Amino acid sequence: MKYFDFRSDTVTLPTESMRKAMYTAEVGDDVYGDDPTVRLLEEKSAALLNKEAALFVPSGTFGNQLAVLTHTKRGDEVLLGDSCHIVMHEVGAAALISGVQLRQVPTINGSMNLHQIEKMIRVEDLHYPDTGLICIENAHSSGTVIKLSEMRSIYQMAKSHHVPVHLDGARLFNAAIALGVEAHELAACADTVMFCLSKGLCAPVGSMLVGSRVFIERARKNRKLMGGGLRQAGILAAAGIVALDEMVGRLATDHELAKQLAEKLSAVEGITVLDDRLDINMVFVKIKMKMSDEAFVESLLNKGLKINGPEDGEYRFVTNYWTPEEAIELLVQSIKTCLEGK
Ligand SMILES: Cc1ncc(COP(=O)(O)O)c(C=O)c1O
Repeated sequence: MKYFDFRSDTVTLPTESMRKAMYTAEVGDDVYGDDPTVRLLEEKSAALLNKEAALFVPSGTFGNQLAVLTHTKRGDEVLLGDSCHIVMHEVGAAALISGVQLRQVPTINGSMNLHQIEKMIRVEDLHYPDTGLICIENAHSSGTVIKLSEMRSIYQMAKSHHVPVHLDGARLFNAAIALGVEAHELAACADTVMFCLSKGLCAPVGSMLVGSRVFIERARKNRKLMGGGLRQAGILAAAGIVALDEMVGRLATDHELAKQLAEKLSAVEGITVLDDRLDINMVFVKIKMKMSDEAFVESLLNKGLKINGPEDGEYRFVTNYWTPEEAIELLVQSIKTCLEGK
């Protein structure tokens, strides 16, 4: 059976031209610095974000944790949003790998309040840890984006306290498109940026950590320590290059499809679309229905539609390159059928 997959943009498959580029990629041992395809991807990524250097890493989680490890020392405190990926979905790695304490700033739809962050920066005191890092997530995985002006204010404030800023930009290009700005403008609001080549950009594996030359050289050594020194990684980097060259420009289509889906779902009785969180390729809804969540997911699966069960009472539907318009229609009609109890 052919399935349309709305669970996430992490489920995307590589495109035809990625597969071809992977097959023909020139490779070498990247731990020796011998892989020309990885080097090209790193140069392109740094240039795109207007930073000095970049490093290919196996995943977004790896890139975030490598950034935390490289920015901080054991016992430091990291300030970040209470709903961000590093806190919620990275298995407590920052405590385990970097030995840091995560201090969570309250968020509304992914955004932290500037003054609240500033108040939480530690002053010198015998009892206090040092504030070693501030992390921002944009786009936020709650479906929202943080305005460029807000990012700038946080960065300026952090700089005035000599605290570095890391941007979890797993969906950096989605954020840039939604905000109508260039990705490098967002990157300019952080010392380091992680962005994913997988997810909406469709590469099968890999993320980039971007920053100053000195930082990236230190991160390269820490990447080896974490077991992320890959050998003939050009096979993967080749797909990453296609992701940057061919896939960034089309992300707006995913956003438009998500908006179409939201509009159609909001016309269905029993569905509330959370339309203040409709900035990127994600639609969050609450559904009033008689059937159980498990039965609902199963019933859609039987119609060729993969969705995740609800989190905190919310269903999330994600569009991507592999979502055709007919899948939107099928999803809406199938949900209607479920709600009508047919
Ligand atoms: C905001 C954010 N950061 C980081 C990650 C981690 O990426 P990965 O799944 O490649 O480890 C994700 C994954 O969904 C994410 O949504």
